[in-house]
Amino acid sequence: MFVEQSELESLREIYYLTNGASGSWRKLLAFGDSLEQQLKRKLLWIWPTMVDLENHNHFLAKHHIQRILSIGCGSGLLEWLMAAAGGQKISMHGLEVDRNWWQSKYSVRSFIPLNYVEDADQLDDSFLSGCCNDAPPCAMLFCYFNNRRAFLEYLRIYQGKWLILIGPHPALGIHTDPNPIQPQLPADGWVLRERLDWTDRNVVAFYEKCSII
Ligand SMILES: C[S@@+](CC[C@H](N)C(=O)[O-])C[C@H]1O[C@@H](n2cnc3c(N)ncnc32)[C@H](O)[C@@H]1O
Repeated sequence: MFVEQSELESLREIYYLTNGASGSWRKLLAFGDSLEQQLKRKLLWIWPTMVDLENHNHFLAKHHIQRILSIGCGSGLLEWLMAAAGGQKISMHGLEVDRNWWQSKYSVRSFIPLNYVEDADQLDDSFLSGCCNDAPPCAMLFCYFNNRRAFLEYLRIYQGKWLILIGPHPALGIHTDPNPIQPQLPADGWVLRERLDWTDRNVVAFYEKCSII
């Protein structure tokens, strides 16, 4: 009961810090340092540092990437942090598989606009290809995703030219698919443009599809 109460209080603080009016991503990062590992993981898989976010946003700005579609975004808190740290110049959207969980009373709130795979009939024309048809440039993001078949299917539909893969450094021994360093992308022109080493041995890899330039 004590744990539940403290978790509720922590969540209340996080909701406050991510609220449009009161929101502060710097305070949220500092607050995240004080959280129990279990709640941290429930909220998002990795907690970046201020420098991590700045480096990430520097790359986005350099390539004029203004929209991100995050597949398997979970709570979307990482994506919220990215957008807030970038001064809200990036529009973020998320796609999740399990509506029952994300709309249940046990789950945490979504921090970005969330869409669901089960609305799949809308995916083809309006969401993946329409939302990310690259005018202006957009990116499809996978963070600690672990479903090769689904990943390849998203890539097949996606018409944008940027792909951001976030996952563990191989030395961590955690399996994700795709892995950011060895994603085994289909042979249709994906080129690694940048690799950022984030804190706690996480890697952010930016791939560009050159065949559509
Ligand atoms: C390890 S979690 C990572 C969550 C979040 N990206 C993070 O970094 O905290 C993987 C997420 O992918 C979602 N997922 C799995 N298969 C999916 C699919 N086919 N389409 C969309 N999301 C999927 C799961 O529901 C889960 O939230």
